[in-house]
Amino acid sequence: MHQNTTNQAAKIILTGDRPTGPLHLGHYVGSLRNRVRYQRDYRQFIIIADAQALTDNMNDPDKVRRNMIEVALDYLAVGIDPTLSTIFIQSQVPELAELSFYYLNLVTVARLERNPTVKEEIRQRGFERDLPAGFLTYPASQAADITAFKASLVPVGADQVPMIEQTNEIVRRLNFIAGREVLVETAALVPEVSRLPGIDGKAKMSKSLNNAINLSATADEVTAAVKKIYTDPLHLRVEDPGHIEGNVAFTYLDAFDRDQTGLQEMKAHYQRGGLGDSVVKKRLEACLQDLLTPMRTRREEFSKDRAYVMELLKQGTQKAREVAARTTDEVKAALGLSYF
Ligand code: TRP
Repeated sequence: MHQNTTNQAAKIILTGDRPTGPLHLGHYVGSLRNRVRYQRDYRQFIIIADAQALTDNMNDPDKVRRNMIEVALDYLAVGIDPTLSTIFIQSQVPELAELSFYYLNLVTVARLERNPTVKEEIRQRGFERDLPAGFLTYPASQAADITAFKASLVPVGADQVPMIEQTNEIVRRLNFIAGREVLVETAALVPEVSRLPGIDGKAKMSKSLNNAINLSATADEVTAAVKKIYTDPLHLRVEDPGHIEGNVAFTYLDAFDRDQTGLQEMKAHYQRGGLGDSVVKKRLEACLQDLLTPMRTRREEFSKDRAYVMELLKQGTQKAREVAARTTDEVKAALGLSYF
């Protein structure tokens, strides 16, 4: 058997999402597609970050609880294979909270306040003086999630890159204090096109903006969304030349069309004039139905046996806990916190 030598980084992924709502095409493009692709080459752990979700949902913990299994179903639906990837629940791995407790002393409040992701999320939520301390400090908990598994890679959307940077700062400080490499530095895996606009043409697809196509959308919901999709407001008559830039139908085709050559021809035709939006939308609808239909089928299969899904999560959590406990012991020992 081939063993990892000490200076050869193990190929481990730790990644995940907060269960606050259904996952949509934006998640698919930003991270899920990579998670499905990389699960064969890496040992992948996927965290359902329910505890992190509570940092801004303490007023409605039941929403988080309900979405936990829905997000698990989304993962299984997109093709996360439970024999290749380990899906687990954050709140059931207390070692992660324990690690965070130490990491909080390796970051300053000023550094947390400067974290661009946290800053933007605080702005969006309008917290001002009512900012929960747990929300401000969740980068330390995310660093615990990643480092507990000694992950070398984290497939996420571009918005999460500052989390990875902050994680590596914690890793370097802890290793410096320990005088040896206890924790492993990590890297974000961000796709070239990592942000999908909403169907309304707004910069980002998001549940709160109500401009998303969920991975669990029904065929009729997909049809309705494509009908509404923002195209080129200046393209009034079929014979007019149309614009590609900012045209969401084409942005989605770029992301999902398997026949990119055919797509280039269609784009040229559209720009020349003589091609109506309805033809473009028909092509897009076919692409999206092709993508989402197998996901819907898999979701229905797994939905029928929720007890099985819960058992998968239970086993995944058990496995995750063993790994996290080992790292937590190492970190505590490195800090001199092992007495007996
Ligand atoms: N912050 C991520 C989100 O907004 C969720 C998350 C929690 C995560 N822990 C993680 C992502 C560790 C990657 C790695 O959905």
